[in-house]
Amino acid sequence: MANENEVFDDIEGLILAEARKIYSQKVIDHFQKPRNYGEPEQYDSYMFMSGICGDTIGMYVGLDNGNIGRIGFVTDGCGPTIACASALTCMVKGLPLSKAKSVTSEDLIAYLDGMPVEHTHCADLAVNTLKGALAKL
Ligand code: FES
Repeated sequence: MANENEVFDDIEGLILAEARKIYSQKVIDHFQKPRNYGEPEQYDSYMFMSGICGDTIGMYVGLDNGNIGRIGFVTDGCGPTIACASALTCMVKGLPLSKAKSVTSEDLIAYLDGMPVEHTHCADLAVNTLKGALAKL
């Protein structure tokens, strides 16, 4: 008879197998291992925004010589939201402020090798939240 851990592993495996039918490997990777999660110790600007579904992202940004030196995010959102926010922080970290401001939802979705249409608003939320934080710098 399977023990509790084996049952959880089986369930996790089934959920992952279903997720792989819908999401790219990059989306799953950023969801499972979010990068730059949390509030950096020092930052120059932040923004919290809620999407059309009520999920919220917070983005924190710190500049080093005009480049995005520190960036972090928090969210109460779904897996795709976590993946979008995580990937976006990776995309813009180290970029000059002007370049970071020009990143679009389409750029983010392309970086993630696609996103189901019902979750493209997660990318919009991540990008709009970042743009809100950058606009205050
Ligand atoms: Fe609404 Fe992801 S932000 S489902």
